[in-house]
Amino acid sequence: MKFGFFDDANREYVITNPATPWPWINYLGNTDFFSLISNTAGGYSFFKDAKFRRITRYRYNNVPMDEGGRYFYIKEGDTIWSPGWKPCKTPLDVYECRHGMNYTKIKGEKDGLTAEALFFVPLNTHAEVQKLSLTNNSESTKKFKLFSFAEWALWNAATDMENFQRNFSTGEVEVDGSVLYHKTEYKERRDHYAYYSVNTEINGFDTDRETFMGLYNGFHEPQAVLDGASKQSVAHGWSPIASHYLEIELQPGETKDLVFVLGYVENKEDEKWESKGVINKTKAKATIANFDTAEKVDAALAELKAYWDDLLSVYTLDSGDEKLDRMVNIWNQYQCMITFNFSRSASFFESGIGRGMGFRDSNQDLVGFVHQIPERARERIIDIASTQFPDGGCYHQYQPLTKRGNNDIGGGFNDDPMWLILGVVSYIKETGDFSILDELVPFDNDESLAKTMFNHLTVSFDHVVNNLGPHGLPLIGRADWNDCLNLNCFSNDPNESFQTTENKTEGSKAESLMIAGLFVVYGSDYVELCEKVGKQEEAKRARKHVKNMVEAVKQHGWDGEWFLRAYDYFGNKIGSNDNEEGKIFIESNGWCTMAGIGLEEGMVEKALDSVKERLDCEYGIVLNNPAFTKYYIEYGEISSYPAGYKENAGIFCHNNPWIMIGETVLGRGDQAWEYYKKICPAYLEDISDLHKTEPYVYSQMIAGKDAAKPGEAKNSWLTGTAAWNYLTITQHILGIRTHYDGLIIDPCIPVGWKEFKVTRKFRGASFEIEVSNPEGVSKGVKQLFMNDQAIEGSMIPVMPEGKYRVKVILGTST
Ligand code: GLC
Ligand code: GLC
Repeated sequence: MKFGFFDDANREYVITNPATPWPWINYLGNTDFFSLISNTAGGYSFFKDAKFRRITRYRYNNVPMDEGGRYFYIKEGDTIWSPGWKPCKTPLDVYECRHGMNYTKIKGEKDGLTAEALFFVPLNTHAEVQKLSLTNNSESTKKFKLFSFAEWALWNAATDMENFQRNFSTGEVEVDGSVLYHKTEYKERRDHYAYYSVNTEINGFDTDRETFMGLYNGFHEPQAVLDGASKQSVAHGWSPIASHYLEIELQPGETKDLVFVLGYVENKEDEKWESKGVINKTKAKATIANFDTAEKVDAALAELKAYWDDLLSVYTLDSGDEKLDRMVNIWNQYQCMITFNFSRSASFFESGIGRGMGFRDSNQDLVGFVHQIPERARERIIDIASTQFPDGGCYHQYQPLTKRGNNDIGGGFNDDPMWLILGVVSYIKETGDFSILDELVPFDNDESLAKTMFNHLTVSFDHVVNNLGPHGLPLIGRADWNDCLNLNCFSNDPNESFQTTENKTEGSKAESLMIAGLFVVYGSDYVELCEKVGKQEEAKRARKHVKNMVEAVKQHGWDGEWFLRAYDYFGNKIGSNDNEEGKIFIESNGWCTMAGIGLEEGMVEKALDSVKERLDCEYGIVLNNPAFTKYYIEYGEISSYPAGYKENAGIFCHNNPWIMIGETVLGRGDQAWEYYKKICPAYLEDISDLHKTEPYVYSQMIAGKDAAKPGEAKNSWLTGTAAWNYLTITQHILGIRTHYDGLIIDPCIPVGWKEFKVTRKFRGASFEIEVSNPEGVSKGVKQLFMNDQAIEGSMIPVMPEGKYRVKVILGTST
């Protein structure tokens, strides 16, 4: 069952039934000011950091779901309704929500009155702009009342939900004409406030929640709206809100546009006040003036759209399959930008309180984003690397506001350092900018410890080399990529988090085959980079370690039919046929096959066949099998989840692409493609009722074959799945891959595909690449031409600015 449709020409998903199986959300803003908005206008705003600068309040896991947001209430006669259906839930004659690239339009119609709200954060603006267009489609004059609504959070989203003994006494506001200011804590240590304005005179306002709502009323029945008039309340403590009240009259056919601005301002210490106790409003007024007419708002939206035209023009596909095209050209890239911005912080599954930017997460997110705005990727890499320790180890995350590392969700994850090599190499391959290697980058944010970025890569590489276990395989530390395989925790206390409990690595023999594969893949990248920059000695040294790792995996990491997952604390095998549960895991088989370990000996093929046989199911590839049915103290959190969910045999979509790439190593294009389609949201639109989450973005997890409801997804939006699927489809299946000296053309496609076209902008040049497959093969470039000139090999060189026609003919070489 569907709840809407894709409008590809406008790059929108159009929701036509407001009662989606879960709130289907969008993100507004892409640099500093951000909002989350659901298809019924629920959600919240924050500045840079969802924890420390929360602007509006949101209640998670509420009853009913998704309560609180920016709401408009319309009262005509005795009928009260909202254009987004919620919170009033008055049945609408028309409802439509269009989620586009960083904007959302929600339209409702009731009894001949249409209210269409456009929400977006204009470029370079610290505000969410809302244009509400009201049209009288009836034959008679309409008189009605309009109330806006936003609820302020008391800045720190965590204490906002906890510290009521203080919070209920701190709230302060100012009312100045049509602008309602929120200035809680401004008089002490804060240098920022928020405001909500409308570009017309108002008939009244409210800033105190209890007065506006009524203490025992829900969002669907605010007392002021029921009464048909605002109360002009000025909040002192309790819970400040902002609500405008307008009396409106519309002639038949008439439209009225109102512009609301929900903004945020920071002032310098000596510019905080206009006069004693009165905040300096200069910046707020300037922003409000930028959007005081509908025309200015429309122009800003056009600018935002042009910005996205440009971002999405770097890689465009024409495959003849509209679902694939819309993922590659629109939604997958869009999700990559969103995950790049937010890491795992703020979604409808991540509260914005618990997690900052992940070290491993952000490096992986980067590979899906780097072609869009390489300069931001560069800056991010430096931020991340600055939190690294001198021995290559890492804080597991950092807070975007302070850019300082923290171990709030645990530390000592031994895979972390390797991902930095991925981030840096991807950046250089996209841009050719080797200067990043010479950049002086602090360790642990301490400038006096700064060394070159190249040195950061060396210590990352060596962190694995210096932490090998009894089989010469990498010690796992707290966990590797799988946060829940906690082999050194032995947690018996339900009150402690698996992620932060003591990490008993001393004397542990716990080794990871996943890190081993990862090390072979990115260690080889490191070797290649050393060669590229003329560090031959270092290349030689590193190559030896990579070779040793390959040997260690072959000797101690092969279980006969697949790669082992790990050795536990005591040195026992995990992910072996000898185990009763968890005989086979996806991660080590993904990484060791991507690395091509044992390709000649048939290990890659055998391992992937085993994955197909034991882990694949109707909805994707599950993480492990058989699922754990009891708690294993020596494995940790992984065995805490019920079978079929999350890291315990869920389809953890992030890692499915590792198997797809493994399949492309073997040249099995049909299999890679089958896996790709299984978890790709656009192909799941028809089962939206089962899938539950948005059909335009990936979710972290789909319930696996052992779950109660296989196929049901959770944790949409913020997941490494976005970047990995984008990388896999664009660089490994369509096979147009960045490299230091050009673009490698190496597709691995289903044999039935006849042709496809990609336009790739790369270092200033634009390549129109036409791939044809006359012999019906999966892999193998037979001939390659650029502007009708034959090219040897399968790489298009870096070219000066201009347009180039590239023709690729696949086939078996003769
Ligand atoms: C979550 C984390 C990620 C981790 C994965 C597997 O997605 O953000 O860092 O690798 O879970 O546990
Ligand atoms: C839990 C989740 C995992 C996540 C980790 C860190 O263990 O299962 O996916 O990465 O928490 O927050």
